[in-house]
Amino acid sequence: MLEIQTQKQLQALNTLKLNAIASHYCKINCHSDIVDALEFAKNAQLNSMVLSGGSNVLLPEYLNALVLHMNIKGITIFKETDTYIEVDVAAGETWHEFVLYSTKRKWYGLQNLALIPGLVGASPVQNIGAYGIEVGEFIESVYAYDSLCKTFVRLMADECEFAYRHSIFKQYPMRYIIVSVRFHLYTTARLTLAYGDLKTAMGQEQTAENLQQQVINIRQTKLPDPLVYPNVGSFFKNPMITHTQYQQLSAQFPNMPNYLQPNGYVKVAAGWLVEQAGWKGRRSGAVGMFEHQALVLVNYDQATLQDVQYTYALVQHAVHERFSIWLEPEPVRFLDNGTIALHID
Ligand code: EPU
Repeated sequence: MLEIQTQKQLQALNTLKLNAIASHYCKINCHSDIVDALEFAKNAQLNSMVLSGGSNVLLPEYLNALVLHMNIKGITIFKETDTYIEVDVAAGETWHEFVLYSTKRKWYGLQNLALIPGLVGASPVQNIGAYGIEVGEFIESVYAYDSLCKTFVRLMADECEFAYRHSIFKQYPMRYIIVSVRFHLYTTARLTLAYGDLKTAMGQEQTAENLQQQVINIRQTKLPDPLVYPNVGSFFKNPMITHTQYQQLSAQFPNMPNYLQPNGYVKVAAGWLVEQAGWKGRRSGAVGMFEHQALVLVNYDQATLQDVQYTYALVQHAVHERFSIWLEPEPVRFLDNGTIALHID
């Protein structure tokens, strides 16, 4: 039975710890709760919005909307062969706990994505990625409620349009409400070690278990613990620039980290740009960029969304002034009526 709460404080449910009150809120514990919640919102003439782990969102102080807080649990094996396994994981399972569980069961593939905050259901939305892999590479399909066609659907991986921090779910917010993700994992270890010093950190022990541990170690040294320093991970996307722009910049800044893309564009490291623009470890009021990783914005002291917006605009301008690159924020920003801001700034 769906229980609707009113005037719900969401501060504990978003990792940036923004003070945000939702006019209406419900926990989604099973498939049918989704249908019931959307029906309630329609009758009450409210927009609805999905809240997952709250680790990639910017919330306004008051949300006049129905918040669907995903809490569907369960891990079920769909298919098992000598070489691979397909496993259905419910949207409300914790991402990192599932990665640890998969490694324990000797289901290999996701080890580079250990310690990413958030829930499983959000992982395909922005196609989470770290240390040389993206989750889309290990997704067979996604099961979701299609609120446009009013039916449950299974989208195969190639229909999900996975790209860097992007998917069809991000493209059309609120059309698909993800119920579960079917992962395609392997029975033999897959060691993707191309990222920076991961190979060296592995030493002699070239195992998936050690890979997972080294990723955890690297993340723990570079990234702030959201429980201590409220944050949403990387605050800006790594920008893609044209090869011509890259050539001009690299003549001036030969040390600029860069990654040539198959489409000819060049991805540059936003963290480096922010640091060079003087913002590493710098604050403006309650909000600042973290001292060990300039790409992470931290709420140091009860900041509001307005404070966050003010500070990140300063960072954007500083980077633009120096490099003529406009950084695009990564988290999803909600408007007061529960819809998503198309352009974050
Ligand atoms: N760098 C600096 N100064 C900084 C931060 C980074 O000079 O303050 C330089 C580093 O020295 C390195 C380059 O920038 O040469 C890239 O830095 P890093 O390896 O730390 O990765 P990133 O590009 O900053 C991306 C993801 C992270 C992911 C890491 C590891 C994005 C927006 N971020 O960060 O994802 O963990 O790679 O693969 O793509 C997240 O999305 O929340 C996230 C943490």
